[in-house]
Amino acid sequence: MKNQIHNEIPLFKQVYDFALRRIEGGDWKEHEKVPSVRTMAAKMKMHRLTVLKAYQMLKNDNHLYVKDKSGYYVQPKGIRVFTQTDNPIVSSYVHKNHLSEIHQVKVDYQFSKALVNPKLLPTKFFSEYLKDVLVSEPEILGTYSTIEGDEKLRKHMSSYFIEKNNMHVDPAELVVFSGAQQVIYLVAQTFVKRRDTVLLERPSYSMAIDAFRQQGAEIIPVELFPDGYDIAEIEQLMKKHQPRLFYLNPTFHNPTGYTVPADQRKQLVELAEAYGCLLVEDDTNYDIYFDEKPPPPIFSYDTEGYVIYIRGYSKYVSPGLRIAFAACRAPLMNILKSAKSLADNGAPLLNQKMFLHYFFSDRMQTHLEKLRIALSIRKEIMEEELDKSGWKWVSPKGGLNLWVELPGHIPVERLLDECLKNSISFVPGEICDPLKERKAWIRLSYSFVNENEIRSGVRKLLRIADEISL
Ligand SMILES: Cc1ncc(COP(=O)(O)O)c(C=O)c1O
Repeated sequence: MKNQIHNEIPLFKQVYDFALRRIEGGDWKEHEKVPSVRTMAAKMKMHRLTVLKAYQMLKNDNHLYVKDKSGYYVQPKGIRVFTQTDNPIVSSYVHKNHLSEIHQVKVDYQFSKALVNPKLLPTKFFSEYLKDVLVSEPEILGTYSTIEGDEKLRKHMSSYFIEKNNMHVDPAELVVFSGAQQVIYLVAQTFVKRRDTVLLERPSYSMAIDAFRQQGAEIIPVELFPDGYDIAEIEQLMKKHQPRLFYLNPTFHNPTGYTVPADQRKQLVELAEAYGCLLVEDDTNYDIYFDEKPPPPIFSYDTEGYVIYIRGYSKYVSPGLRIAFAACRAPLMNILKSAKSLADNGAPLLNQKMFLHYFFSDRMQTHLEKLRIALSIRKEIMEEELDKSGWKWVSPKGGLNLWVELPGHIPVERLLDECLKNSISFVPGEICDPLKERKAWIRLSYSFVNENEIRSGVRKLLRIADEISL
């Protein structure tokens, strides 16, 4: 009887179940290579295609991942994502994050992370700061931060923003958040309800798209060009749709690297006031310019309180400290503060103190100057390698990415699959498009990889693209 039931189970499912039992029982360990398709087929006396089908399903269900040309490896448990079919009750509470799904694949040529390599960050000084802070304030871990964040830090940041960025912001108009992503998420949760209209740049930062989409917003795209927006189009959209807010990333924009010029920044604030639309200005890359400082933030033109300004410091200080600031006028600030209190009761005080120590030190200026040079060299190397391809992009004047248009004969989805198998990752443009239509674009980050890796990785990428061209 047992055998009969067993025989009714499709062959590929038997392989699937066999492998899953080994993964869940711990016989096959995380990141361990599993038996090859050939070996498994011989062992189970089945056709290789049957085993391949099972392995592909295990990969789709996040139990396996692919590395190198033919190897399947066990996916670590922490990164498994429930899919609609796994568990309908759980899946309705799982928030989709397309970018982090790509980042979870371990690769040698990491072109998908718009993050600065830790070797280029001041990480070695932090152990010193950690000790200093714990010695000078021994009770720091025994206490909460205030919701708005450390007073001394906010005072220093207020003077810094006034002096360096022409942003007139009082310490009371600043709140410390745990990363820019937390501000985006809480803004979406707090200011947007189901069916509210939200304007998003096209393309846009994919984790912002996901945050607004999961809130049930009607998303209207605003085309972003190398020289900014079509302001008349934005006015039409605001008139027609009366959006709740416009989330934008106007300086060394992620993914394109474009920067919106000063005159348009001023016009946007006028439109926001005229049509009652909040502007959520995400300025995470503001300081990462190569030669010329960008125009003042949109926030600097805001006198009536229509802008929520976000400045994160993951890109060039430390992603691990999770320090970001939100600046806005009092009525908005009170709402954001109460959202922050519900989320986590305030950012960790130790991290804030360490940031304060470093950010206002001479080391910080030297670091930033060196980093700008290192990143511009990496960008140039990537461009030099890509020059051989005939692919198109606009060379950015700052930021961490190239936004590249591929010729139509290269299928991007297939390119990503093949690249992941060959230990290369990039971000497919589709996930940065609120309409999910930009299929011919990819984002290549030059900030995480070193110069040699950029050269060999891009060469490999171009070779694969050639091989799969239609
Ligand atoms: C445009 C943009 N906004 C926000 C974030 C999130 O930054 P944080 O690490 O401060 O949460 C990123 C990180 O990639 C980003 O590129």
